Amino acid sequence: MDDFVCTLKAGAVTRVRFTDMKGLSEHLSSISSALFVADENSSYAIPENLSDRCLVLSSGEEHKNYDSLFKIIRKALGLKLSRSSRFVGVGGGVVSDMTAFASSVYMRGAKLTIVPSTLLSMVDASLGGKSAIDFDGVKNLVGTFYPADDVIIVPALLKTLPEGEFLSGLGEVIKHAFLTKDKSLYHFLLENKDGIMARDEETLGKMVELSLKVKKEYIEKDPEEKLGIRSALNLGHTFAHALESITNYEVKHGIAVAWGLEMALAMGVEMAVTPADLKESADGLLSLYGYDTSLRIEKDKVPIFRSYKEKDKKRDSSGVQFITLSGWGRYVKVVPDDNLIAKLVAKV
Ligand code: GLY
Repeated sequence: MDDFVCTLKAGAVTRVRFTDMKGLSEHLSSISSALFVADENSSYAIPENLSDRCLVLSSGEEHKNYDSLFKIIRKALGLKLSRSSRFVGVGGGVVSDMTAFASSVYMRGAKLTIVPSTLLSMVDASLGGKSAIDFDGVKNLVGTFYPADDVIIVPALLKTLPEGEFLSGLGEVIKHAFLTKDKSLYHFLLENKDGIMARDEETLGKMVELSLKVKKEYIEKDPEEKLGIRSALNLGHTFAHALESITNYEVKHGIAVAWGLEMALAMGVEMAVTPADLKESADGLLSLYGYDTSLRIEKDKVPIFRSYKEKDKKRDSSGVQFITLSGWGRYVKVVPDDNLIAKLVAKV
């Protein structure tokens, strides 16, 4: 696996680096003025000698709020950090989003390093500069674009990740495999299932690198999601968000995305946009990794699905836009009618 850089703003690059536990420990210990933010699941990754500069937050989306943000800022102030100091977020997407937000507003912007500790955050939240907290029940309502200077990928952190969390991250990786014309990630996933599922560090590192490089293709062209290019990364997400809501978030995000990918491509085939063999490639990969794409929603829940769909932020004046593919790495936005959605997602 090779380090690489991602340019999101003129003069600002994110360096993506790969290392092991020893390298991580040495790197974190070498930062002279820093606050380390973790949660109960990730604090083990921060060396003990740094504990006085470490804030451990409660885990979970329900803590992605102003209280946690204020705790981070108070701790930074207590440590007398300046704007040339570094905020280091070690954890999943909740920790990295909040640490990035705190870093972006502390003295108008401090330095930022993200050490993602879940597969989902390694392949998604860590790169791309999105920072946020939830507010009044609305996810990511308050936030900024603030790319990290460094993203440090430590595949060894995935060794102890619960299976459901691992499969959730893998759902986003599989989605990335179809968002690029270069089929390297697709072939890597087809050929390395054993190493991936055994969590071989080298194999996971390469997979994360290939996956992040797909995300890089989109975010470098549209860093602040203003041109309709970055939003293609939301392939499968309109279906996924609805499924997550209906199931009260019992279906994990990336697992819902894997299902949403299948639905988005089935929709594309029905609308004569997506070639059938592209959908078959996705079916094959999803079933190789054991995702249940046969899941369908009770008929009486479909209206609820529609109402979630309508609340989705991807709605515009012509209706709810869904993303699908017209070829490998060729995204298109479509507005399917409700009968087609019902046909795709409802139990018969
Ligand atoms: N999760 C998609 C993005 O970062 O834009």
